[in-house]
Amino acid sequence: MNQVPNHPTAFESCSAILNQIGQYHLLQWWTELSTEEQRELLADINSVQWNLLQDILETVVARRSSANPTASALDNLQPAKVFPQKPTTELIGLYDEAIEAGRSLLRSGKVAAFTVAGGQGTRLGFDGPKGMVPVTPVGSKSLFEIFATTVLAARRKFGANIPWYIMTSPANHEQTVNFLRTNRWFGLPEQDVILFSQGMLPAFDFQGRALLAAKHRLALAPDGHGGSLDALIRSGALADCQRRGITLLSYFQVDNPLVKPFDPLFIGLHSITGSEMSTKVCAKADDLERVGNVCLQNGKVTVIEYSEFPEKLARQRDLSSRRTFDAGNLAIHLLDIAFIDRVISKQHKLPFRRAEKIVPHIDEQGRLHQPAKPNAVKLEKFIFDVLPFATNPLVLEVDRAEEFSPVKNATGVDSLETSKRDQNLRACRWLESVGVRIPRHPDGTPNTTVTISPLFALDPEEIRSHVQQIPAIQPGQHLHLE
Ligand code: UD1
Repeated sequence: MNQVPNHPTAFESCSAILNQIGQYHLLQWWTELSTEEQRELLADINSVQWNLLQDILETVVARRSSANPTASALDNLQPAKVFPQKPTTELIGLYDEAIEAGRSLLRSGKVAAFTVAGGQGTRLGFDGPKGMVPVTPVGSKSLFEIFATTVLAARRKFGANIPWYIMTSPANHEQTVNFLRTNRWFGLPEQDVILFSQGMLPAFDFQGRALLAAKHRLALAPDGHGGSLDALIRSGALADCQRRGITLLSYFQVDNPLVKPFDPLFIGLHSITGSEMSTKVCAKADDLERVGNVCLQNGKVTVIEYSEFPEKLARQRDLSSRRTFDAGNLAIHLLDIAFIDRVISKQHKLPFRRAEKIVPHIDEQGRLHQPAKPNAVKLEKFIFDVLPFATNPLVLEVDRAEEFSPVKNATGVDSLETSKRDQNLRACRWLESVGVRIPRHPDGTPNTTVTISPLFALDPEEIRSHVQQIPAIQPGQHLHLE
């Protein structure tokens, strides 16, 4: 194979590494590539931390054994201990104290918002970052606008410079930045919106050989939201938090417009109980709902993903006929900055999860092959796999109707249609709770569509203070309160 005169060292070191790890085939088309293409290929190859993948290639990928829970990994599962949504008599004092503690942490600027937004809107038929998808029932506001205005409203409410960290992926980073910039960061100071891209991992065939998407490009895929911990460090975002005196990240996925990232009760309970990582759950909608199951295993809080949770356990009932495993993971977490730092510095390794996917690739003849069935393994890390490393992890149950209606599918459950419906129901409920009359259809559903901007109110209490501004709502009216 010829060396390239203008970057022989980069080529030599790259080929030596690939040789050593059995991935030399990635340079198979080297001599056919232009200088620019050669540079791109080297950049792709050098972006991968091959040394961290070696064990995985031999076990998870090639031998088809799985890093996902095996039978023994599913042993000794018990329901997680959950703080109830409404406090029992013994807990009232603690909840009151927690709300005060949470407000105080918010006022003193210790909490930042963190959105994982590496995903695209493809499943929704939207060509671009998922955060750009318009989701509100009235006004077609995007997910990003909802979150940005939530941060802005919280900054005003608590009088603190709350920053917003957003993890993108290389596929949508530029578009996300452009979208936010074009919209002038939705009123937030530019320096307080911090975007960084997550890491990528190669897709492998079942023999553990990395695949090429083109002769000069690796087939790369995002490394999962568990990769956010590495990305926070690598990008300098964690150091930025430390510089700003932030001690707590309020983590949420880009797909849930009902999320409440600045919940004093959750933040306060997390702090008072000395939790390093906390998670919100709600009762599952049905036995097989596609949410992770928050469980206890050998005393540790653990999430078993729906795809790996045995159906028998999912359907199990306790003596009072209630679902035994009923704590659905909402992917809403609080993470101490010091905990992230400790996990990374102690090199606690999150397992790689294995998924078999269809990945178009360059075949032996140098042609782009479009497989008809899964031909490759993609690897991802999950953020909730860090829970077992946390001291005193706390689980809080919340009301689904108030906090969770994600946009994941084009139709059916967790779609734009169901999320808009749930956003409208929440807005109507909030208005009724302060005495505003909501016109209703004979079946009881609202005969009006309402969007309440976070800048108008973050909760029903805030509506009370400007209830006079709300007009009488006519049947069939579309109302945008902003
Ligand atoms: C996820 C959780 C599930 C939880 C449910 C709640 C996982 C594996 N499972 O399911 O336990 O009950 O949400 O809604 O997360 N993302 C990135 N980078 C990546 C991968 C994902 O930023 O590399 C972001 C996406 O933008 C997306 C979110 O993480 O918003 C969820 O990922 P996805 O793989 O779609 O998980 P779900 O099936 O939605």
